[in-house]
Amino acid sequence: MMKRDRANFGSKLGVILASAGSAVGLGNIWRFPYEAGSNGGAAFILIYLGCVFVLGLPVMISEFLIGRRSQANTAGAYQRMALGTPWRWVGRLGVLTGFLILGYYSVVAGWTLEYIFEATTNGFAGKDAQGFQAAFDSFAANPWRPMLWMVTFMLATHFVIVRGVEKGIERSSKIMMPALFIIILVLVVCSITLPGAGAGIEFLLKPDFSKVTAGTFLSAMGQAFFSLSLGMGCLCTYASYFSKQTNLTRTAFSVGVIDTMVAILAGFIIFPAAFSVGISPDTGPSLVFITLPNVFQQAFGGMPALAYVFSVLFYVLLAMAALTSTISMHEVSTAYLHEEFNFSRKKAARIVTASCIFLGIFCSLSYGVLKGYTVFGLTVFNLFDYATAKIMLPAGGFFISLFTGWYLDRRIVWSEITNDGSLQVPLYRLIIFILKFVAPIFIALIFLHGLGVFELFERS
Ligand code: TRP
Repeated sequence: MMKRDRANFGSKLGVILASAGSAVGLGNIWRFPYEAGSNGGAAFILIYLGCVFVLGLPVMISEFLIGRRSQANTAGAYQRMALGTPWRWVGRLGVLTGFLILGYYSVVAGWTLEYIFEATTNGFAGKDAQGFQAAFDSFAANPWRPMLWMVTFMLATHFVIVRGVEKGIERSSKIMMPALFIIILVLVVCSITLPGAGAGIEFLLKPDFSKVTAGTFLSAMGQAFFSLSLGMGCLCTYASYFSKQTNLTRTAFSVGVIDTMVAILAGFIIFPAAFSVGISPDTGPSLVFITLPNVFQQAFGGMPALAYVFSVLFYVLLAMAALTSTISMHEVSTAYLHEEFNFSRKKAARIVTASCIFLGIFCSLSYGVLKGYTVFGLTVFNLFDYATAKIMLPAGGFFISLFTGWYLDRRIVWSEITNDGSLQVPLYRLIIFILKFVAPIFIALIFLHGLGVFELFERS
């Protein structure tokens, strides 16, 4: 038999679980609840849903088709499909973006390990709100501990990556994603049956539009791209391992639905529990690490065993979700170095792991000794988060839509989306229309408006 020279996912389920594994991550369980909490709850969620289904899915289909057609890493993909044009910079920008995200993402992923450790060793018991705040502050400011967890997390990611696409990425997703679902369901049931949980459910379902500003739209769009792993060629890289039979539109839809469901269910874990003990859900990035452990302790105050199980399960959930995502970001850079610079896969992975740890060290220290070092008023950690989610990912999405909508030969687009005419895709025209006009225009408008560029003109 002829040896296939490029790896592939082994099954349809593997394709969906690996892509959903990339999408479902800290973005859903850590970032989404605090963005929703500080942007007015249900109103934010509605705008977010619009961004996911109108802008996100067509961009995801684009990434899929670019990856599968070119059978290359994301930088190589644009190189192949648009030889000798500046489009290759879109791919390279993606590799860089992924790299920066991984730098700070791995720090938060490391925190989840500390919290699993704390939860299992019963470190939460008996603390009050100030206690949790102080515990987090002293942990995050410690120069060593968070860094060691971050390194541990990167090594776990590394370990999966070097096992390859099918044995590493696909198999780990097939184990972790179903486990994730079960844990989520258990936690949702526990949370919504707490006394007083109704206020949290109302917060999630009853929109308050008075809190909506231009910034809300930018946050919702940035969150949609971040959560769906879009705008940097992550799903493009995964799609280069899809088979010719994969239905790109249906896969994108499944991934979008799974990702959105997990985000909303995470809301149903966090808000009912928070409201039931009268804690405000708009505390920002610390929500999951300071507010929640306190919520768990109080909510299940009378039942320490339940509080224990709930806390452990929650942070295990968070760590697993983060791991399937760090794997996907790592793969972008690893595939890039492996294919463009002819390093062996192992060597490429080692370079990526080592450089991410290096970046991660700065992000980790920005909660401690580097707290005072700011650029544009942001610490290294916050700068990476802001620059990637609110600038680089939307910019990536913008160019990806233009690339598919305007640059690529329409026959290529058609043959990829319909698998050479063998699939009926009723929404085909709509997808193209969105990629040509709606996505670029909306992304540009939300982007400029959210950054305050229009206000700048109005004032001058
Ligand atoms: N989507 C993941 C999450 O929600 C994070 C992630 C993985 C990501 N790959 C990405 C974000 C690519 C942006 C781009 O946690």
